[in-house]
Amino acid sequence: MANTRYPFTSSPKGWYMVAFSDELQPGDLKPVTYFEQDLVLYRDHDGEVHLLHAYCPHMGAHLASGEVHGGVRIKDGNIVCPFHQWEFNGKGECVSIPYAEKIPPKAKIPCWHVVEKNKMIMAWHNIEGGEPEWELPDIPEVFSDEWTDYEVREWIIRTHNLDMAENQVDVAHFQYLHGTQDYPRSEAEVDGHIMRVVSKAGMGTPRGQVQGGIESTSYGFGFSTIRFTGIVDTMLVTSTTPIDGEYVHTRFCFMVKKTGGADVTKGVGKAFIREVSRQLEEDIPVWENKVFVHPPVLCEGDGPVGLFRKWIKQFFPAGTFDKLNVQAASYGHQEPAGPRPGEPKDVAPQQQASAG
Ligand code: FES
Ligand SMILES: [Fe+2]
Repeated sequence: MANTRYPFTSSPKGWYMVAFSDELQPGDLKPVTYFEQDLVLYRDHDGEVHLLHAYCPHMGAHLASGEVHGGVRIKDGNIVCPFHQWEFNGKGECVSIPYAEKIPPKAKIPCWHVVEKNKMIMAWHNIEGGEPEWELPDIPEVFSDEWTDYEVREWIIRTHNLDMAENQVDVAHFQYLHGTQDYPRSEAEVDGHIMRVVSKAGMGTPRGQVQGGIESTSYGFGFSTIRFTGIVDTMLVTSTTPIDGEYVHTRFCFMVKKTGGADVTKGVGKAFIREVSRQLEEDIPVWENKVFVHPPVLCEGDGPVGLFRKWIKQFFPAGTFDKLNVQAASYGHQEPAGPRPGEPKDVAPQQQASAG
């Protein structure tokens, strides 16, 4: 088990964002780490995006390392391994070896099904394999002139997708962790892989208390939209992708409906980003240090947490939650959250002293 705080896979099945569309131009490639694996993402010269496991089956080179001597990384739609220049197509099949006629049948790289939607590159991931089981929607606001472009914020958080997703149905924490003015009233409904949560909550604004609405729609764990109505319509398109069994990569894309002139839109956008980010950053220390409890000890007023726990089962291998009984007191010592992947570790005091 990769993560002792969560007694199940870090990567439930679903669609997850692996990059923004504009991060990859034709001929570009990008190493990424998601789903507990090193991967390589590339866009061929026809504009198609492909996602492959990063390591070459020949002798293990990382496909995004080094340069291709006298050649190019992406050639005729294929990715070229820099070590001996074997070429692989977007399905991970070896299609050419420059010094051999026969291609070994095992010369194949695992690949992921990828689509581009809503300016995002999304990969279907299922640890049990198989084709995508549902499609992602087109979000009309993303391409509408009446809405601003994405304003993006990203976080690397030591948590599981499950805990982040549960936040939306956990109505009590809005008042007691985030200090919202009142306790939101929420109704949740599920429809296959989709969960919709509609909430009404009072929002404190410079013009006084305003009755606001929040409608969140989750398409599995890896993609959701949250529409806020009240003063000015705002929207959040989000994706949270498991990284390495310990951390997730969350991207929040904020949009504001353009009403009342550019200055108003800019002002509303800034306030919206500030408030949502404030709430997320209040959640982070809780998520990073909590354990998973199932079944949770719920009380009246906890909101549709029970419905959420039933809905999530479909994204895990069959039987994952059957007879699962993990209570808070059953956990022993857990390591506290450390530096994020890619962050420098703190220098120990004695090293600082000797360096000086
Ligand atoms: S390791 Fe990739 S071609 Fe040899
Ligand atoms: Fe929260």
